[in-house]
Amino acid sequence: MPDKKKTNPTNSNQRFAIAIMAAGKGTRLKSKRPKVLHEIGGRPLLEHVIRAAAQVVPPNDIFAIIGHEAESVRAAVQHTGAGFVVQAEQHGTGHAVMCARPALQNYDHVLVLSGDVPLIRPETIQQLRDFHLQQRASMTILTALPDDPIGYGRIIRKSRNGADVKAIVEQKALNKTQAKTKEINSGIYAFATGDLWQHIDRITTNNAHGEFYLTDMAALLVKAKKKVVALPAANVMEVLGANTLAEMVMLDANMRQQKCAALLASGVTIFRPETCVIDSEVEIGPDTVVEPFVQILGKTRIGQDCRIRSFSVIKDSEIADGVNIKPGCIFDDAKVARGAVIGPYSHLRPGSDIGENAHVGNFVETKKTRLGKGSKANHLTYLGDAEIGEGVNVGAGTITCNYDGVNKHLTRIEDGVFVGSDSTLVAPVTIGKGAYIGAASCITDDVPADSLALGRSKQVVKEGWAKAKREARAAGKK
Ligand code: UD1
Ligand code: CA
Repeated sequence: MPDKKKTNPTNSNQRFAIAIMAAGKGTRLKSKRPKVLHEIGGRPLLEHVIRAAAQVVPPNDIFAIIGHEAESVRAAVQHTGAGFVVQAEQHGTGHAVMCARPALQNYDHVLVLSGDVPLIRPETIQQLRDFHLQQRASMTILTALPDDPIGYGRIIRKSRNGADVKAIVEQKALNKTQAKTKEINSGIYAFATGDLWQHIDRITTNNAHGEFYLTDMAALLVKAKKKVVALPAANVMEVLGANTLAEMVMLDANMRQQKCAALLASGVTIFRPETCVIDSEVEIGPDTVVEPFVQILGKTRIGQDCRIRSFSVIKDSEIADGVNIKPGCIFDDAKVARGAVIGPYSHLRPGSDIGENAHVGNFVETKKTRLGKGSKANHLTYLGDAEIGEGVNVGAGTITCNYDGVNKHLTRIEDGVFVGSDSTLVAPVTIGKGAYIGAASCITDDVPADSLALGRSKQVVKEGWAKAKREARAAGKK
């Protein structure tokens, strides 16, 4: 992203901070979780806003105003490098900004964002900043004209043509004429800090909620003969708030739709994208095909020429080029090398590391397991805490018994081993290179290379037994 700070001479020496109001509870969500930690696109609302802000100013000029469940909010977004201001009791948006005052002393201007308006783009924040400076305004309000303005504060302009604003009126305080106004307050503003601090203490709680409304600053500054202007955002979606779960899922859908559109544009085929859930951070290479009803989450990276078939859920995983994932697979923190074939119905749990051209098949579960190049575990198997070499065949129904009730132990299977079906390998145990394990063996001791191990009882055959039994039954005996 180009740094407009450097290209715009008007703001070269103006110090800007960004304060993000995120202390509210989110009563309308009816949720235990604070509103700003609800997720869209797989990320908390507040993190989206901080990420956008961080494209405009450095993280140490960003201050998240937190209050309700402050510690969990702080913990969730601390990694962004943003600073925090605590609003211990929440007495409204105006009060939130009053609480940030000590942190904002060294700035000429502050951009105030709302932690529950998550689709805001850095370009729009920059436009707000630039317009605010051009206008030499005390307060600049980012506005929008949505189809349905109900619930939002409305912008009362001085005239139809100019940018000047008279006041912001909250939904509950609208009179009949004002109620016809379509232009809404986005909850995103720029303030010249000198004028802000000079007048902010004049805000009262004389309103429907008994709160300090930041929106009252508009009329207060106008009264003090200061300039208050509005800048309509180009894109309405960007400024919509997430106050209810219905709004939250609508914004989530919009964000995922944008993500799918970006992937499609970069050469990834996504059939029925409206059925897929792909998080913002996911990367997918060109010529990969994603079938309907797939979820790709977290930090997952998928290479080129892969096919992800329906009903797979892939989280925080790394998948190389040309991997074929058949229907119904679950991946969590797993790694898959090029050309591997996974599924249907495989479960790759954390620490699974599947080698080049390896196969993991039907109802196979892996955990903390390396499966070497070209090795196969195709049916009904559990591989946990295992190091498996190249060219190994793991027969159907094989189980690594990795847990003794207290500790986990390692199973080592060297290159070229053939494990017969229904074997149980009791860890810690090593199967040497090229060895054979007879089907249904219970292997408790190490097996040397190139040998055959049989860990089962010898077969007994009683000739004629079944026939005699049948005849006895027919004769009325038991
Ligand atoms: C606010 C605006 C409204 C605007 C709308 C846009 C006011 C009075 N109204 O209404 O004009 O159309 O946003 O989305 O500002 N918060 C705090 N501390 C508090 C209260 C709120 O940090 O004491 C935070 C909330 O966590 C939230 C943001 O401020 O992130 C906005 O608060 P919210 O209660 O959602 O305001 P709205 O009713 O949406
Ligand atoms: Ca809101």
